[in-house]
Amino acid sequence: MTLLTGQLERSEKMRRLEDKLAHIEAALDGRSEVVGGQRWGALTLEHLRFRPTALPECDFVSVDPSSRLLNKPIAAPLMISPMTGGVERGGELNRRMARVAEYLQIPFGVGSQRVALEVPSRASDFKVRDVAPSIPLFANVGAVQLVKGYGPDDIKRAVDMIEADAVYLHLNAMQEVVQEGGDTHWTGVLGKISDVCTAFAQQQKPVPVFAREVGFGLTAQDTQRLVEAGVSGLDCAGGGGTSWSLIEGRVASHPQHQRLGQVLADWGLTTPESVLEVRSADKEICLIASGGVRTGIDVMRLIALGATAAGMASPVLRAAVESEEACLQFLQNVLLEIRATMFGTGCRDLQDFRKKVQFLSIRQPPHEFIAI
Ligand SMILES: Cc1cc2nc3c(=O)[nH]c(=O)nc-3n(C[C@H](O)[C@H](O)[C@H](O)COP(=O)(O)O)c2cc1C
Repeated sequence: MTLLTGQLERSEKMRRLEDKLAHIEAALDGRSEVVGGQRWGALTLEHLRFRPTALPECDFVSVDPSSRLLNKPIAAPLMISPMTGGVERGGELNRRMARVAEYLQIPFGVGSQRVALEVPSRASDFKVRDVAPSIPLFANVGAVQLVKGYGPDDIKRAVDMIEADAVYLHLNAMQEVVQEGGDTHWTGVLGKISDVCTAFAQQQKPVPVFAREVGFGLTAQDTQRLVEAGVSGLDCAGGGGTSWSLIEGRVASHPQHQRLGQVLADWGLTTPESVLEVRSADKEICLIASGGVRTGIDVMRLIALGATAAGMASPVLRAAVESEEACLQFLQNVLLEIRATMFGTGCRDLQDFRKKVQFLSIRQPPHEFIAI
């Protein structure tokens, strides 16, 4: 599978478009993931084993994982995490995934809209409302852009561009540091996020601002600072799946960056560690958990730890690249696995699941990671 086509001019903007295509290719070839077992001493998804029941005392057909997010009904606590747009193939993939998300009634996030904010003709790659009229949609902009001149108005443009229900400001400092020519001036980012939250809260129709990591996790301290800044929600995207240091290292041409990507391959918190960290700081905030979610059992492991919903990125994109049918089939499998997990733990609905579910054991993570 080769997505890189044509001769692109090597201007700054074109470099970013090329990077986006190279990222998609690197993310999908199976060599950019750091799976659980490769993380020594970390709490990973496979450590979480549900206490099953042989007596579910409900009918499988009645098991209902439906919920609500951003004031809209959703069929299950699952979303397609932000990935793409801004390149022709990315636009086509966004529409494919958005159509599937609408059909299944699960939320969807577009990838970074920076290119469309700068090159308006690219906006069409992100506009999916016509094929996804009813589901929660997330806009997406890199938080570091806020210290490079973007303000609340630019974030609002991103929201309006796709008629989003909420906006993700992504926090990808460790990706940028591995990326050749990445944006590494992060002084003042938190204050600028706070400015966006204040401006958005004052809008006639307030749009929730979510902050999200991209695969290195959020700590309890990050959570406190972001909540104080005014965010309405978080995506604690942690390690266990796509590693952005590996991807950036692999697409880098300079050996120093290639090495840095390898050295930082498993930097940060795993996704379950990150959920526990966030919840130790804030019991209520809307929390999406992504990073390494590969099955419906993984989704429910994160819900059991306290996430509001879970997000899946690269496996969905991999299926969408194959075909819309493959994407639909993959997500239908995940939804079935979610319901099977609920049935196998004797829980008819999510409320029941959140109250009753137990793990057989959570292997004690190293105490320096988690201080609840
Ligand atoms: C090809 C690709 C592109 C991505 N682009 C973005 C992006 O533009 N903005 C963002 O917030 N996250 C982005 N992500 C991060 C994902 O949303 C997700 O947090 C991360 O990949 C971990 O999930 P996974 O292990 O299921 O892939 C991207 C992921 C992939 C695989």
